[in-house]
Amino acid sequence: MSTTRVYVPRETASVSVGADEVALAVATQAKQSGARIELIRNGSWGASWLEPLVEVEIGEQRIAYGNVAASDVPGLFAAGLLEGGDHERRLGPVNEIDWLVKQDRWTLFRCGLVDPASVDSFRERGGFAGLEAAFAAGRARVIEAVTDSGLRGRGGAGFPAGIKWQTVANADADRKYIACNADEGDSGTFSDRLLMEGDPMCLVEGMAIAGFATGASKGYIYLRSEYPLTHRILARAIEAVRDAGWLGEDIQGSGFSFDIDVHLGAGSYVCGEETAMLESLEGKRGIVRAKPPLPAVAGLFGKPTVVNNVITLASVPNIVRLGADRYAAMGVDRSTGTLPFQLAGNIRRGGVVEKAFGLSLRELIEDWGGGTASGRPVKAVQVGGPLGAYLSENQLDTALDYESFTAIGAMLGHGGIVVFDDTANMAQQARFAMEFCAIESCGKCTPCRIGSTRGVEVIDRMIAGDDREGNYDLLVELCDTMEHASLCAMGGMTPYPVRSILEHFADDFASTGGSR
Ligand SMILES: Cc1cc2nc3c(=O)[nH]c(=O)nc-3n(C[C@H](O)[C@H](O)[C@H](O)COP(=O)(O)O)c2cc1C
Ligand code: SF4
Repeated sequence: MSTTRVYVPRETASVSVGADEVALAVATQAKQSGARIELIRNGSWGASWLEPLVEVEIGEQRIAYGNVAASDVPGLFAAGLLEGGDHERRLGPVNEIDWLVKQDRWTLFRCGLVDPASVDSFRERGGFAGLEAAFAAGRARVIEAVTDSGLRGRGGAGFPAGIKWQTVANADADRKYIACNADEGDSGTFSDRLLMEGDPMCLVEGMAIAGFATGASKGYIYLRSEYPLTHRILARAIEAVRDAGWLGEDIQGSGFSFDIDVHLGAGSYVCGEETAMLESLEGKRGIVRAKPPLPAVAGLFGKPTVVNNVITLASVPNIVRLGADRYAAMGVDRSTGTLPFQLAGNIRRGGVVEKAFGLSLRELIEDWGGGTASGRPVKAVQVGGPLGAYLSENQLDTALDYESFTAIGAMLGHGGIVVFDDTANMAQQARFAMEFCAIESCGKCTPCRIGSTRGVEVIDRMIAGDDREGNYDLLVELCDTMEHASLCAMGGMTPYPVRSILEHFADDFASTGGSR
């Protein structure tokens, strides 16, 4: 009797809707019916709206079944699941699902496809070919490729990765570090998690290439503690990679040594800011450092350090393997390549959509996201996490690229997109922006520490209808002070969501409380 491969994701979103129970039901049902299966716990393809997404390998094809519940499993077996049988949950071959096929999957291309715990599975799909190509090309050519690709940091600031790497490579130091920012604190973002759960070895490879190119021998992944499953998957993958000789001393006889430790955060948003993250990595309280010096010059333990986001680093192996030109050919102007956009909030088809820069926000929300989950009109969309502006319906045709967003006083950030329907009260969201800053502020500078608390009070007065005009002016002035006098983007960008609400949704203050 032949063995059939069945894939059931082990990824936080799918597990939250019952993937573990489905996996158990599949194993139990197979045993009871005497069928031989190999159960693979893959990552997610990113189509969270179809989870748990179960696949059965039939010859060269993988037949997908969507939104499978444990209670569906007996019926699925009766319908011939292991032969790809017909059933109301059957979606057809996974590589023919439009929502997946029409993406530009450069960074997430292995997510869902491979077994995240298996080096062999990773190798079969081009794993470590980027590192091998880096060894063959040499340090200088690798940095040249990253620079020529136009890759910009995906953590929020969009700083060119090549320049950062070159600075660290040029630095003369006895020790250098690669610090991967996996804090992923922005609301509505989960692409780092998806990558680390679905293709953790890609991140390891990206970090090893960064280490090789810049002369660093040690890497740290700063992972948010709210991702316990990610932690387990990542730790297991790193161990497997080390056992296979792709981490550690003299990797594959190249003469290059590199290793990685995972460090867990403690639930602080500001520890995603790179210098606060370095403080935390050093075992101290996560307080923002004044810059200069830049981390690339004096970072972790005072040594030159590359700080890059998960997606930035995971984009590199394919750039080195397939060529900078191919990457640079995607996107628009200075926004080259792809971004895994994350659709969240009130959206019908939530998940991660990796697309080249340049499509419009409306296309993403309507064509990919299918509009709101409630079926009501879109009122506002927050892009770029809690420090991002709220866009109104008439801004939805803005192209998704760094420059177009800057031009309208917004930012793309890490690509998180949170949709609100017409029942949302935006005055409350403005209050939330200030309150969030007050709670998460590291406390180092006054405009952020004190300003955010005063901001909540001013907004409360506006909501209550207490001298709304006077308090409006005060809020505008406070936003100016916070933007220009804060030490980092936490206090400096909290005005973005607040101002966008004053500009587009001012009526919500009047509809919330007393008269003006
Ligand atoms: C308050 C605050 C929170 C941040 N949180 C994150 C985060 O969770 N993940 C991240 O990669 N970058 C975050 N950043 C951006 C980092 O400071 C930094 O720009 C980034 O890690 C650099 O990597 P990149 O160039 O690859 O984007 C945050 C910045 C600020 C000001
Ligand atoms: S802006 Fe806020 S988070 Fe940033 S240094 Fe100042 S107090 Fe800390």
